[in-house]
Amino acid sequence: MKDALSSSACSGCDKHIACSDLDRRQLLQVLATGLATSLPFLANNASAEETVHLLVDADAEKDFVPLRPSDLKVGKPLLVFPYDAKAGVPKNESRLNKLVVIRLPEDQMAPDTQARAASGVLAYSGICTHQGCEVKTWLAKENALACYCHSSKFALLDGAKVISGPAPKALPAIPLTMSGEFVAISTSVPPNSGQPS
Ligand code: FES
Repeated sequence: MKDALSSSACSGCDKHIACSDLDRRQLLQVLATGLATSLPFLANNASAEETVHLLVDADAEKDFVPLRPSDLKVGKPLLVFPYDAKAGVPKNESRLNKLVVIRLPEDQMAPDTQARAASGVLAYSGICTHQGCEVKTWLAKENALACYCHSSKFALLDGAKVISGPAPKALPAIPLTMSGEFVAISTSVPPNSGQPS
């Protein structure tokens, strides 16, 4: 398979995240730090802590509907973008802002993972820490999210630690909270460190 990081020529594909020089630079930064705070929607926004970020389906092109926990079936991941509720715009200017959310049983989560959940919903960067492919395949028997590019698997009930495959770090975790009936990104709970597992 073509190296995802070298795929600067592809246009609009779903497999490769580094489709422009800017995306490529940002991807390298995210991969180097492994921190959720290096994701463009947080890193490029000085007032990110005051912004209420809800979540909207990444495939939506208009009529953005903020996500409620009940919109997610248990064990069915969804790719989303943060959504600036005040401005009414999704933060989809960079594909690196794409997150994967999933609703899982809270009593099966590790304590620090449970602390980042909102009504059983967890969020992580949807971008693989190996070479930037999207991660969106749920393996129920293993309680793992898989990246189909080179088969890395991440344990979502336990901080998205790497179970197998070439990914060097856990997926950056995005702490969630509730904003009324909607799932929102929390700024009060620290994300995971994204250190090698
Ligand atoms: S990009 Fe290689 S395992 Fe995900």
